[in-house]
Amino acid sequence: MEENKNCPCKKKSCPRHGSCSECRRYHAGFDRPRPVRCEKHISTRPFRPGDEKDVANVIRRTLEISNKDDYSPDFIRANIGSHSPDVVAAQARDAHFYVVTDRKKIIGCGGITGYWGSTEESYIMSVFVLPEYQGRGIGKRIVETLESDEYFTRARRTEVGSSITAVGFYRKMGYEFKNGITTPDEYNVVRLEKRKP
Ligand SMILES: CC(C)(COP(=O)(O)OP(=O)(O)OC[C@H]1O[C@@H](n2cnc3c(N)ncnc32)[C@H](O)[C@@H]1OP(=O)(O)O)[C@@H](O)C(=O)NCCC(=O)NCCS
Repeated sequence: MEENKNCPCKKKSCPRHGSCSECRRYHAGFDRPRPVRCEKHISTRPFRPGDEKDVANVIRRTLEISNKDDYSPDFIRANIGSHSPDVVAAQARDAHFYVVTDRKKIIGCGGITGYWGSTEESYIMSVFVLPEYQGRGIGKRIVETLESDEYFTRARRTEVGSSITAVGFYRKMGYEFKNGITTPDEYNVVRLEKRKP
C-alpha cells in the first residue's frame, strides 16, 4: 500500500490512513458520498487581482524545495525572479489562470493560454503545488481544471514546458513527449503535448 506522508487526517488508526486511493474509494462508497478529510476545504477558483503575491510565494517555496534537486541554485533564483508578483499578475491578465485554496489559503496554481496567439494550439503554464500538499491529487485537479477551460477544449494540441521534476506527473496526465524528445531543451524544460484525435 502506497503511504502518503502528507496525509493530514487525524484518524491514524484507520486501516486506510495514508492510502489516498483506498480512502477515496471508501468515501465514495456511501449513498451520499462524503468528501475525504484532506479535500473538505479544498477548492479551485479563477485567479483574482490581489492573488499575485500569494501565488508568487507558492511558486517561490515550491521551486526552492521541490525543484532544487533538478536545477542549479542560479536557475532556481532566476525562475523565482521570473515569477514575481508583477509577472504573475501580468500572466493572469493574458492567460486563464486558476488557484487552488485550502480554506482561504492559496496552495496551488496553474494557467493556460493560446500558443503564441494561436486559436488551435494552447499552452499550459506555471503549475505548482506547495510541497506539503503534493501527492494528494491537487496537481491532477489543476490539470483537469485547465483541460476544462476553453483554451484547452478549443485546441487540437496543448503543450507544456515541463520542469524536469514534473515530467512523470505530466506523463501520468496523458501528455506525450513532443517530437519524441525526452530531454530538456535550451530553456531546461522538457516539451510535452496532448493532441486530440
Ligand atoms: C508536479 C506537481 C504539480 C504535481 O502535483 P501533485 O499534487 O503532487 O500531483 P498529484 O498528487 O495530483 O499526482 C497525480 C498523479 O501523478 C503522479 N505523479 C505526481 N508527481 C509525479 C512525478 N514527479 N513522477 C511520476 N508521477 C507523478 C501521482 O502519483 C498521481 O498518480 P495517481 O493518479 O496514479 O495516484 C507538483 O509536484 C509540483 O508542484 N512540483 C514542483 C513544481 C513543478 O515542477 N511544477 C511544474 C512546472 S511546469
